[in-house]
Amino acid sequence: MSSGIKVWNVPGARKASRERVQVGRIGCACKKRWDEHISGDRISPQDTVPRSRIMDTSSSNRTISPTRAWWKSATVYQIYPISFFDSNGDGIGDLDGIRHKLDYLKTLGAEVLWLSPICKSPLADMGYDISDYYSIDERYGTLEDWDKLLKETHARGMRLVMDIVVNHTSDEHEWFQKSRANKDRKANPMRDWYIWRPPRFDQDGNRMPPNNWKSMFQGSAWEYDRATEEYYLHLFVAKQPDLNWENADMREAVWKLMRFWVDRGCDGFRLDAINHISKVDGLPDAPVVIPTLPYQPGHAFYINGPKVHDYLQEMNAEVLSRSDIVSIGEAPVTHSIAELAQYVYPKNKELNMVFQFELNDIDAQGGLEAESPICYKPWRLQDMKAIINRFQQWGRSDDFWNTVFIENHDNARSISRYGNDSAEWRALCAKMFCIFQITQSGTLFVYQGQEIGMKNVPKSWKLDEYKDVATINFWNQTKEKRMRLSGKDADEVDMSDILEQCQRKARDNARTPMQWSSSPHAGFTTGTPWMRVNDEDDWTVEGQLSDPDSVLNFWKRALQLRKQHEVLVYGDFDLLLPDDPAIFAYTRTLEDGSSALVVMNFGTDPITFAESVPTMKGAQLLLSNYPVTNSQDEAWASSSSAVLRGRRIV
Ligand code: GLC
Ligand code: CA
Repeated sequence: MSSGIKVWNVPGARKASRERVQVGRIGCACKKRWDEHISGDRISPQDTVPRSRIMDTSSSNRTISPTRAWWKSATVYQIYPISFFDSNGDGIGDLDGIRHKLDYLKTLGAEVLWLSPICKSPLADMGYDISDYYSIDERYGTLEDWDKLLKETHARGMRLVMDIVVNHTSDEHEWFQKSRANKDRKANPMRDWYIWRPPRFDQDGNRMPPNNWKSMFQGSAWEYDRATEEYYLHLFVAKQPDLNWENADMREAVWKLMRFWVDRGCDGFRLDAINHISKVDGLPDAPVVIPTLPYQPGHAFYINGPKVHDYLQEMNAEVLSRSDIVSIGEAPVTHSIAELAQYVYPKNKELNMVFQFELNDIDAQGGLEAESPICYKPWRLQDMKAIINRFQQWGRSDDFWNTVFIENHDNARSISRYGNDSAEWRALCAKMFCIFQITQSGTLFVYQGQEIGMKNVPKSWKLDEYKDVATINFWNQTKEKRMRLSGKDADEVDMSDILEQCQRKARDNARTPMQWSSSPHAGFTTGTPWMRVNDEDDWTVEGQLSDPDSVLNFWKRALQLRKQHEVLVYGDFDLLLPDDPAIFAYTRTLEDGSSALVVMNFGTDPITFAESVPTMKGAQLLLSNYPVTNSQDEAWASSSSAVLRGRRIV
């Protein structure tokens, strides 16, 4: 093939102790070139890549051809409705607001819209606590508004995916109200739709929860119900009682509600916390791994539980396989790729893909046993590369399929968390992370605001600007603990380190209203926003639409490129320089012979990238986060190494 694609100069930035400028490249070259190069044995002596790896890449027998599907090549845009766009001035984003922005989303290149939950909910966990699966929360609109939104989404050739939360409901759901009404299972079969257990008592006769599991959002995972003198399980907050998936009637009710949305025209589901639905028999105590807390992570007893695959196969047979819809499972906590892949292999007939969080947990202090994911731990690029490499290469011959995402409503903004959001680096970094995402294999997810490089809230914000129950509970628990241990009063306890952690990692950072324009509240609402807008920041959609070099216009180009070059979606992934602490480089290769080279510098120093991959001569530059001139392009094409541009920050 004579046509190839090449890209370069992709600086990113990482808040490292050493202040550095980084540059990177993303490029694609035609495979013929690579073969020539390799056979000519021109691999640079500085090359740290195992040569066999490169040879592998070029071997025409090796490339795998994943099956094609609309949901594989699609770009999914996640909308957090409450913060997207408010159409009626009540300070709350809504369905009509989304409808008003459909042209914007279409022009951006979004093909599937995934809405975080919009069903009726008391919003104890921002809609991930559903009290009626059959109606829209009135704050967001009505079913008719949803129909209108769907129609107009479809009219633009886009699809709409619902976020369904069926590990638990709200405690205000009718099912739970009925379940809690009477503990006599004969008289009240719905008692068994949730997980109820009698109390335990300690030696002194004090009532205790049935086991020592900790809720994800702090405290015991059990709540006592005085009326029936039993506890119910809630892996998240007490207002989110866990459903009992052992109960066949309950499962039938879930299939029914899913069919309701499919019949209404929805194009698929994101299934919340779906790897939590099966609990180990007997609900045993968890080992003590956080001795300073009374309750302990019980993950081993409900993550990827014993019957989870049976339940999902049933879901697949009853709902998912019956129409051409997409299913995306959320599978937090576990890092076992072998386990995660079981949900996805087509032969298992479960889900199309899962969100896995190993990359996301890379900066979690205490890892999976962390008291809260808010606690930060420094991370190494080598570890990030190893994680991505493992997932990108996993199970390709069995048609395993990845999700590609670095942001969502549960995580801080990527440039603030993994990169550098200072004025100097912000745009370069946002663009590099865009390249990072659009060049990986898997279904691509873009989270609202990511396309304009939205960043975390300012350091000056106090806790009362943070709204997330997970943030507030962690704060309160830590404060109480510190008071207890130090004997100090509430106003004497130093919490500045926790505030710092919140600013870096709290979920609130992703939930500030979308920044549309320079109008008050960034044009999100004409009223008072439910959560403060990141008002020290003047980056907006409006401001970026008219700037050809903006992050937004970069994303648009990037998403188009991904559509044009199948190799970026389906090609094999081969990591280069696995041990390099600053360069993230890889190739992508498709069975038709097209290939891509991606080079990114995550540091802030200029770096010489010894060309350990075949020459890029003749290849076409696709995308760079630095402006590229012809002469630089030539330099890259003709030399065996390239100096990746950068400036030293003083
Ligand atoms: C998922 C959601 C998160 C929610 C939790 C409980 O992780 O993404 O926002 O708090 O489930 O439903
Ligand atoms: Ca509204």
